[in-house]
Amino acid sequence: MAASKSPDQGLAAVLQVLRGAAAAISGEYLAGELGLSRAAVWKRVHRLKAQGYVIEGSPRKGYRLLAVPDKLLPEEVLEGLKTRVFRGPVHHFETLNSTNDLAKELAAQGAPEGAVVVAEAQTGGRGRLGREWNSPPGVGLYVSLVLRPMLPPMELPQITLTTAVAVVRAVRRVAGLAPGIKWPNDLLLNGKKLGGILTEMETESDRIRYVVVGLGLNVNNSGFPPELAATATSLALAAGGTFSRVHLLRAWLEEFEELYVRFLNQGFPEILEEWKCATVTLGRAVTVRQGPREISGQALDVAPDGALLLRTASGEMVRVTSGEITPGSGAEPGV
Ligand code: BTN
Repeated sequence: MAASKSPDQGLAAVLQVLRGAAAAISGEYLAGELGLSRAAVWKRVHRLKAQGYVIEGSPRKGYRLLAVPDKLLPEEVLEGLKTRVFRGPVHHFETLNSTNDLAKELAAQGAPEGAVVVAEAQTGGRGRLGREWNSPPGVGLYVSLVLRPMLPPMELPQITLTTAVAVVRAVRRVAGLAPGIKWPNDLLLNGKKLGGILTEMETESDRIRYVVVGLGLNVNNSGFPPELAATATSLALAAGGTFSRVHLLRAWLEEFEELYVRFLNQGFPEILEEWKCATVTLGRAVTVRQGPREISGQALDVAPDGALLLRTASGEMVRVTSGEITPGSGAEPGV
């Protein structure tokens, strides 16, 4: 596990001064501003350069920030982030097995609500129903967020649906594209999979101890492995241009926090309405696979607890709480 720094006040402070400067600033000035020695400033500049920041430094003129790396570094994610609770600590890694796995470990050790684990690449990214999540370096968003809602475990599906609404909002805001949600929380564009959410929880005596919400979003992928090529897409493929993963992550944290607070204070109805506006599942003929079992029917509605309501050919109403949806006979792709 190659961890870059977890939030480092010193680095963030140097960066903040460099970002705010219109011209090069001397090491002496930086040292004075931050109450550090010039050697300490030099060390921090060196560490920032090692992370990929392009900082011009000359003994005569001083330091100037020329470019920031295209990485989900804590200092970038937290810059200008308008959240109160979903703001870290942000744990950033070049490569991880799975951000959800580490987030669960950290949560079990007491990580606070709002802790974030983010990786540039995953070697064992996991999807729902035991599938793999394709996680190549530097192009996708692979992020997990720790939540500690004071709720009974049966309310988890509502948190999962809320997460998907936050992704739709974030993608609209940053990329100007409107993904559809396939029940319960797959994100689709043009009928192909753009992203997915893996929600996992630990409970104690009928209460949630923690939830880890893992989001995988295909952002700047220019292609996919052959087995995914027909069914997966990315924002870049859909829009013909690349997008900032940092902006998308910030937007998701902001939108999700707003919705999560609303869910805790006012319940789920309004969020469910927004979910319904974005879904591509309702009104379609679908088949739900639950292991060896299959149920086919018309997807009529989603119940207040997040369950999908199907009407089968025999007219029976069935509540579905888990499973994988595929188009039923006569349905269009992407249901
Ligand atoms: C799905 O659609 O099946 C859910 C995919 C979730 C993938 C994300 S990537 C970040 C987090 N870490 C994981 O191992 N999985 C989730």
